[in-house]
Amino acid sequence: MYSGDSVCLRALEVSDLDDIMKHYNNWELRRQTGVPVPKSRRLMETWIEKASLANPWKNGMVYFVIVDKKNDEFLGVARFFGVKSAHNRARLSVSIYDSQHRSKGYGKDAVRVMLWIGFHVLGFHSINLDTMEDNLIAIHIFEEAGFKRVGILRETELVDGKHIGLLYMDILRDEFMEKYPSGTVIGESSTD
Ligand SMILES: CC(C)(COP(=O)(O)OP(=O)(O)OC[C@H]1O[C@@H](n2cnc3c(N)ncnc32)[C@H](O)[C@@H]1OP(=O)(O)O)[C@@H](O)C(=O)NCCC(=O)NCCS
Repeated sequence: MYSGDSVCLRALEVSDLDDIMKHYNNWELRRQTGVPVPKSRRLMETWIEKASLANPWKNGMVYFVIVDKKNDEFLGVARFFGVKSAHNRARLSVSIYDSQHRSKGYGKDAVRVMLWIGFHVLGFHSINLDTMEDNLIAIHIFEEAGFKRVGILRETELVDGKHIGLLYMDILRDEFMEKYPSGTVIGESSTD
């Protein structure tokens, strides 16, 4: 379990399925994460069983559940995927599932803790991601965490009948370490 200012990140459990299903098929969440079709509970059950067992070095991915540090309430899911051990790199995604919980600082904190885990614990050299070019909140929190804009894959996602670009962003270990060196009080682990 790793904690930031307002969130803790813990392992994904099969028992998280109900919380995930409450908001997973929300249109805005589907749209922003680039999977604009609903998924059935059955499909998600299969996914969560696989995802909860995933090991970054064996399966190329690792999932975390974002919970409120105050009361352990489920907030969303963060993951590293596309992990390439030969290159020490991974892709990142972070989602706060319930729109009521957005814009309260949880996403920004979760990104910092994920980067802390990625660089200080998993030893990645670089972490990258893509986000819809009109997802200004996501772009803002990733830039705040130190991500740089790499480029745009133009008009590549069809959303509501309109083609939107994907903005690619990345951050290198040295850049993160300069901002958050060892001993920085984020991502500290607890025994819980
Ligand atoms: C993107 C997401 C993770 C952000 O998390 P969040 O908890 O809502 O965001 P936070 O409250 O931590 O931070 C919001 C920031 O965006 C800023 N912001 C709000 N509206 C903005 C806008 N139109 N343009 C730029 N920045 C904006 C806020 O001022 C705040 O920054 P600040 O703390 O520096 O003032 C969350 O909204 C989400 O899960 N969205 C749906 C899924 C998604 O888009 N995932 C990312 C794709 S990989």
